[in-house]
Amino acid sequence: MFESLLIRIETALADSLPDSRVAPKRLHAAMRYAVLGGGKRIRPLLAYASGTLFGVAPGPLDPAACAVELIHAYSLVHDDLPSMDNDELRRGQPTVHIAFDEATAILAGDALQTLAFQLLANADIADKVKLAWLQTLAGASGVDGMCGGQALDIDATGQRQSPAELEHMHSLKTGALIRAAVRMGALAGNASTEQLNTLDRFASSLGLAFQLRDDLLDIEASSEQLGKTAGKDIAQAKSTYPALLGMDGARKRLRELAATMNEMLDQYGERATALRSLTQLAIERKH
Ligand code: IPE
Ligand code: IPE
Ligand code: MG
Ligand code: MG
Ligand code: MG
Repeated sequence: MFESLLIRIETALADSLPDSRVAPKRLHAAMRYAVLGGGKRIRPLLAYASGTLFGVAPGPLDPAACAVELIHAYSLVHDDLPSMDNDELRRGQPTVHIAFDEATAILAGDALQTLAFQLLANADIADKVKLAWLQTLAGASGVDGMCGGQALDIDATGQRQSPAELEHMHSLKTGALIRAAVRMGALAGNASTEQLNTLDRFASSLGLAFQLRDDLLDIEASSEQLGKTAGKDIAQAKSTYPALLGMDGARKRLRELAATMNEMLDQYGERATALRSLTQLAIERKH
């Protein structure tokens, strides 16, 4: 269903990244390595799917789709660093700090982040949409979003969180970028405040479901299947849904979220077909 969009995303990402034959070659190569050749591209697909709800074609959404994926890729490079999750495998390949070195991995993450905002700032779209995109992605990346969530994740390691604390952490570390992807698609379609709020609620459930599935897969799947080292959450005493609720409790929460999300999409009928498929994918994904 998403073949042509996936090709579109790969091309747009490849075109937006700096040339690895140009200095600083090592940094450029690390940035390309971190972003290209792997990844499910769920966040860009969500931006396009949400745009579809409001009749927006893919073209104008390319900068938003690329920008959210660049922030995501940067978050993974830094998440894998020795001082964070200390992972050596990502998307079936050595992590950036293993394939290159730690300093290059830190710089590649930094540069991917600023490139994301540069793409948005340079987008050929109405100023009002551009400003709203910039506000959305900045908010979702910083202390009230991914970075804040990663900090909570570090604080919670080895601790037992309440269900509300765990949901809050997930809502920031994973939910924020997923909410931003959905919101940026809708912003390009001039969605009303009420429509944006409804979609935010939908995307919050999706973000939670996505991390819940990630936590379940960390236990159930193999490293080969995941393209990243399995079993790390228990080994590192991470605070996760399965740790708090058990496998059955986590699966039950996932089913509840699926039902809520499908209900929320009902009002959009046919136009929500892509968003429905991505919801299904988030819940049933095997990697
Ligand atoms: C992994 O994200 C990190 C989480 C936020 C759970 P993805 O599962 O989207 O990773 P890629 O982009 O497909 O590799
Ligand atoms: C990472 O969560 C979320 C990010 C913001 C990168 P995880 O640490 O569970 O992601 P994986 O399992 O390494 O992909
Ligand atoms: Mg982590
Ligand atoms: Mg990790
Ligand atoms: Mg994980």
